[in-house]
Amino acid sequence: MVVQGLTEEQTAQFERDGYLLLPGELSPEQVNKLFCETSELLEQFDISTHPMTKFSTDEKAHIGDTYFLESSDKVRFFFEQGAFDPQGNLVRPKSKAINKIGHALHNLNDDFKAVTVNDRNRSIAQSIGFRDPLVLQSMIICKQPEIGGQVPSHQDSVFLYTDPPSAVGFWYALEDCTAENGALSFVPGSHKWAKIAKRMIRVDGLKQGTGFISIEGVEEPREPAEEEFIMPACPAGTLVLIHGSLLHKSETNKSLKSRYAYTFHMIEGGNKYDNLNWLQIPPTEEGGANFTHLYA
Ligand code: FE2
Repeated sequence: MVVQGLTEEQTAQFERDGYLLLPGELSPEQVNKLFCETSELLEQFDISTHPMTKFSTDEKAHIGDTYFLESSDKVRFFFEQGAFDPQGNLVRPKSKAINKIGHALHNLNDDFKAVTVNDRNRSIAQSIGFRDPLVLQSMIICKQPEIGGQVPSHQDSVFLYTDPPSAVGFWYALEDCTAENGALSFVPGSHKWAKIAKRMIRVDGLKQGTGFISIEGVEEPREPAEEEFIMPACPAGTLVLIHGSLLHKSETNKSLKSRYAYTFHMIEGGNKYDNLNWLQIPPTEEGGANFTHLYA
């Protein structure tokens, strides 16, 4: 049986706006399963061995960068900035302190793998023009109550760069998203005028870290005005497709509840993914990066 991708109207809307909301994409049972699995992951992870709690404040930045850079084939836990006091002590219980979990849930966790690699997503990828969609990375975004940090206006292809840019985000709301808890907002159509002018790279050397380099001959997009952003209603179970060049952001979670979401990104297999990128996928035994091909 062929699973339907997007309708012609939905495809046209995605091409026009650079994003598309598909309410009810996950059933309440699926949402509940992923929500519970997230809670379980947060409950089970061993905080005593985590580099951010184990090392002194001075060492944390460096150790934290390495922990982040080597997470492409692991399930790792990244803290909210507001989870620590100025002395570097954790001031929240661990389940309320994690900002995100990444970056290989689509490979290593059966529940998240099932919502990532499936016929429906193959068909959606096909609808929006992918020839050889690769799943590059996946994350659970926790957006914790009161401290769930703001994500300023950005374009995903800056962080997940291919030449030419090709990233598309699949973003699933696991809880209702509202203005109060930091829902996503978008500048419709900005993927058409805002080009990818820089890219995030891995900086090796004495200390590992990340930095940005400019893309030659491409002008930085202007900063959009506040009123250009639109925040659509986004109930739990909604899938949001996000074009890699679209300007989007989310505010701090000011509510007393979390705002869990699951997201993964696809890139086009034929486009160049080079070793400057901060996120490097270890090779398979046969050689070549071990990407998850959506069309097996
Ligand atoms: Fe984003």
